[in-house]
Amino acid sequence: MKELDWANLAFGYLPTDYNVRCYFRDGKWGPVEATTSDTINIHMAATSLHYGQEIFEGLKAFRGKDGKIRIFRLDENAHRIQESAKGILMEPVPEEIFREAVIKAVKMNERFVPPYGSGASLYIRPLELGMSAQVGVKPSTEYLFMVLVTPVGPYFKEGFRPTNICIMRDYDRVAPKGTGRWKVGGNYAASLMAGEHAHDLGYSAVLYLDPREKKYLDECGPANFFAIKDGKYITPASESILPSITNKSLQQIARDMGIEVESRHIPLEELSEIQEAAACGTAAVASPVAEIHDLDTGKKYVVSPDGEPGPITTELYNRLRAIQLGEADDIHGWNTIVE
Ligand code: PLP
Ligand code: COI
Repeated sequence: MKELDWANLAFGYLPTDYNVRCYFRDGKWGPVEATTSDTINIHMAATSLHYGQEIFEGLKAFRGKDGKIRIFRLDENAHRIQESAKGILMEPVPEEIFREAVIKAVKMNERFVPPYGSGASLYIRPLELGMSAQVGVKPSTEYLFMVLVTPVGPYFKEGFRPTNICIMRDYDRVAPKGTGRWKVGGNYAASLMAGEHAHDLGYSAVLYLDPREKKYLDECGPANFFAIKDGKYITPASESILPSITNKSLQQIARDMGIEVESRHIPLEELSEIQEAAACGTAAVASPVAEIHDLDTGKKYVVSPDGEPGPITTELYNRLRAIQLGEADDIHGWNTIVE
């Protein structure tokens, strides 16, 4: 293979050698099998195509300082895809199958795990689809669980540089008691219009307000939001956001650093009292925020007046990366080393 330009990868899809599949049919899961085919055979009346029975996950594998490959918090993603499945009446993938499929996909595509020091990683995308034909609005009886991987660089092209984000009230990503807490494809379809609108205006993401009252901070594009306020880590508690595994990890790292963590409703106005902010997620890692523009009121919250990432955000980011790259002790047991 032509050597990839590892240090300049975008967050996009590059073909790899294999993907891994497992079918649920006749009430049971079959074997976990690898294939070189990058297409799937699907019935034209499958529930995933008509009624949105589609869920996915996102996690990463890293090449460490010691040359070993580490997959970050595999068990958490295994658990979350089960919650997503239950949320839209799909068959939950057993944890052992999730684990086996992810490890197999990484191992078989080992040559695509970016080298240590490149700043890139192997993005792992497990997904599950409702496969059986239905015309009535009903859950499928057959499912396909698959795992594809692709090497990626930073989600925001700026990398670890502060970007501006915006608040808009014309769009909701999810309903108050809807599917926001699950990783359901439809949530992303519902976010496309707002996301494109924001990008056209030069913003990297939309900071959504809670869909019921539009009073509190909610999701930040394809990521959670956190801020540093008077030395505390604050992050929105909301039933309409995806429980981010990165956010959970950063909260633990913050506590390890002696920083108090508050997961609670954050009224919009509190943005004028914060000193740092970031969007956090597997793809976004911790992407610092420079300014937040409320497009409806014209108010601008300047989080980083000098355009630099804040010191606490930087430290959190560095510590997270150090664990993922095997530079720091994995004291919480977050990594799965691929043998
Ligand atoms: N929120 C949304 C809507 C996402 O798509 C993601 C990405 O997975 C996250 C939050 C961050 O979650 P995690 O840190 O588990 O990747
Ligand atoms: C992730 O961070 O893994 C995501 O899923 C975000 C986005 C690429 C959908």
